[in-house]
Amino acid sequence: MNKKIGVKILGTGSYFPEKILTNSDLEKIVDTSDEWISTRTGIKERRISKKNEPTSELAFKASIEALKAANISPEQIDLILVATITPDMLFPSTACFLQKKLKLISVPAFDLSAACSGFIYGISTAKAFIESGLYKTILLIGAEELSKITDWTDRNTCVLFGDGAGAMVLSASQENDDVLSVFLGADGSYSDLLFLPAGGTVCPVTESTVNEKLHTIKMQGKEVFRAAVPKMVLAAEKALELSCKKLKDIKLFIPHQANMRIIEAVAKKMGISMDRVFVNIYKTGNISSATTITALDEAIKTGKLQKGDIVELVAFGGGFTWGATVIRI
Ligand code: UT7
Repeated sequence: MNKKIGVKILGTGSYFPEKILTNSDLEKIVDTSDEWISTRTGIKERRISKKNEPTSELAFKASIEALKAANISPEQIDLILVATITPDMLFPSTACFLQKKLKLISVPAFDLSAACSGFIYGISTAKAFIESGLYKTILLIGAEELSKITDWTDRNTCVLFGDGAGAMVLSASQENDDVLSVFLGADGSYSDLLFLPAGGTVCPVTESTVNEKLHTIKMQGKEVFRAAVPKMVLAAEKALELSCKKLKDIKLFIPHQANMRIIEAVAKKMGISMDRVFVNIYKTGNISSATTITALDEAIKTGKLQKGDIVELVAFGGGFTWGATVIRI
C-alpha cells in the first residue's frame, strides 16, 4: 500500500511597501486621533504601496524571500496560488501576473478569494493538492493592497487597513506532515456587513458608482466585531481538536490582525495568555489575507519560533469566512 503523502513547509517570506502612514498622518486627512485609533484598534501605523506597485509586485518580493528560505529554485514550483481580494485586475489573476514576474511560464496559477481568511483557505487548498498527488511543490501567497480600495474620507474604515504580502512554499514529503489540521467555515448571509459594492456584475462601473465611492470597502464594524470573536474561537478550537494537539502544545497563537480588542477577546475566551499570542497589528494594520502569513514570517525571523514548533493560525473576514490551521514550522 502507498504511504500517505505528507506536507512539508519549506520556507516563508514577506514584503511590505516602504511608505509608512502613521496615525498622526491620518489626523491630517480625517477627523480622528492617534488616541482613538490606538485604544480602539491597537494600530499605530500601516504600510502603503506606491501607485505603480501592484499587488503582484508585493507578492513577487515576498515569493523571492520564501523561495530563498525554502532553498529551492523557482523551477521546482508546480503550482502558484494567490489569496487576495485586491487583485491587480479582475482578470487575469494576480497569480498569472506573479507567474510572469517569476518567469515560470506554463506553471498553473490562480487566485483564491476568501477575504481575511484567504491564507488559511490557501493552506487547505495546497494541502489537498499535495495529498492528492496532483502537485508536489506549491507557492502560496497572501497579498493585499487595501489602501487602493479604501475611502480616504471615511474615518470608520480608512484608519484600519494597510498593504503587504507573505509567501510560503509547501511541498510533498514522505517523512513530514507539517499541516496537522485545517478547519474552514463561511456564512454568505452576512455578505453585506463587509464588502466592496461596485465593480462586479451586481453593480458594474458607472460614473455614479465612482462618485458615490462604491469601489471602496464598506463595513459595519460593530457587527463584524461581534461575529469575529466567537467564530475565531470556534475555528481555533476545532482546528486544535482535529490536530489531536492540546493548547499547551501550541508554541505561538497567530490570530488575524484586525483589531487588538478582538485578538485579546479571542485569547481570553480560549484561556491563552497574551505572551503566547503574536501581535504586530500596531505596525501593519489589517492586511486581510496577508496578515497571518506575514505575522508567521516575522515570528520565525525574530526567533519567536524555532524549527519544529507548533503554531496555530486563525482568521475571520468578509463573506463571512473563517478558518484555522495547526502547523509545524
Ligand atoms: O478583517 C476583517 C474583520 N474586520 C474586523 O474584524 C473589524 C471589526 N470591527 C472593529 O474593529 C471595530 O468595530 C472598529 C474599530 C471598526 C470600530 O470600533 P468601535 O468600538 O466598534 O466603534 P464604533 O464604530 O461603534 O464607533 C464609536 C464612535 C462613533 O462615534 P459616536 O457615534 O459614538 O459619536 C464613531 O463615529 O467612534 C467614532 N469613530 C471614530 N472616531 C475617531 C469611528 N471611527 C473613528 C475614528 N476616529 N477613526
